Amino acid sequence: MRTQVAVVGAGPAGLLLSHLLALHDIDSVVVENRSRAYVEARIRAGVLEQGTADLLIDAGLGDRLKAEGLRHDGIHLQWPGTRHRLDFRELTGRSVWVYGQTEVVKDLLAARHEHVHFEVAGTALHDLDTDRPSVSFTDSSGTPRRLTADVVVGADGFHGVSRETIPAALRTQWERHYPFGWLGILAEVPPSTDELIYAWHPDGFAMHSMRSPVLSRLYLQVDPAERIEDWSDERIWSALETRLGLDGWTLDRGPVVDKGITPMRSFVSTPMRHGRLFLVGDAAHIVPPTGAKGLNLAVADVAVLARALEAFFGSGRTDLLDGYEERALHRVWRCTHFSWWMTTMLHTTGDALDRELQLSQLRYVCSSTAAATGLAENYAGLPF
Ligand code: FAD
Ligand code: DHB
Repeated sequence: MRTQVAVVGAGPAGLLLSHLLALHDIDSVVVENRSRAYVEARIRAGVLEQGTADLLIDAGLGDRLKAEGLRHDGIHLQWPGTRHRLDFRELTGRSVWVYGQTEVVKDLLAARHEHVHFEVAGTALHDLDTDRPSVSFTDSSGTPRRLTADVVVGADGFHGVSRETIPAALRTQWERHYPFGWLGILAEVPPSTDELIYAWHPDGFAMHSMRSPVLSRLYLQVDPAERIEDWSDERIWSALETRLGLDGWTLDRGPVVDKGITPMRSFVSTPMRHGRLFLVGDAAHIVPPTGAKGLNLAVADVAVLARALEAFFGSGRTDLLDGYEERALHRVWRCTHFSWWMTTMLHTTGDALDRELQLSQLRYVCSSTAAATGLAENYAGLPF
């Protein structure tokens, strides 16, 4: 098989790249080791930056986003006794959109599913230092295949094979594991809040998010070693009520339809380019979820790479491809810092000094326009 761009991974990054390239008549094929149903059902991120939403709309993928997405002009920051609203629109002129990653992926697959090989096995990358790199795999019927391309894009997430194909001696990795995880639930109950609540509490961080007017998404800081079996629905709701509690406000409960615990880490790996291989999204970097940057950062990488590939295939220009890594990394490090900062401000460690520093920072962000603008600018997203 021959294509112009071989894409490994049908997550949001790989599918979006394939779609943007198709708009410029650039041919691509995506290989994915999971089934379409699995990819569409995987519950992950829920907040799109203004730039992400604009890009999806401009790419013709915005019909459901415009009809079903919820525009949020701010968030609430909370600590015991105080809930403070930050108005992003007033501070930065920008908003965010609550629209699940599952929905983004469904919209992308509706456009691109004919160009995806699902349920492949044994994905391997070859000849990356030549101008005819290739991807080999076994397709869902058990037939070995090889996809030859001009460029290979590794969009296969943190656990994929693309990053590891770059020789270890050439890679530099920065990594931090946090001593907490997020226990997340999806509940069939209208959200008890108009906008997201990020709450500091002595028992640990809690967050109230949503997916639609009838679906709530809520998170609790837990020890990453906790087992989800030890968290009954009653125990989860009770902890959420305590940590999100505020006089005069009630949290409505409903049936829990999904729950799980996610570990939290910061991770950046360079290079993001090796010969004809380009890495995008979680394949190259992971941020802790506080601040909702993971999906948006994957989309930002793709926006930069798509433009570079358009110039390469359109007119043979290589300067944008050569500049991809530097351009992408500026945003990667900005988001890595912001996600670390939000995480550090909001998650309790049990340390008395940390507690006072966190509360001081929260009071500052909620009382200084300069500090609030810094948070709002990063949260709503800097322009691509
Ligand atoms: P992925 O979505 O990981 O997609 C990679 C794809 O490659 C997958 O479909 C995978 O099956 C496929 N693949 C892997 N290996 C191979 C292979 N060898 N061959 C072929 N295909 C392969 N971000 C937020 O902003 N907020 C959140 O609440 C949030 N929650 C998250 C919860 C979890 C459990 C995880 C893992 C991530 C979460 N994130 C969250 C991060 C966000 O979802 C990611 O940043 C985003 O999915 C990145 O997209 P991606 O396309 O780069 O990678
Ligand atoms: C969601 C996840 C986040 O990491 C975040 O900061 C806000 C919302 C969510 O899943 O809805």
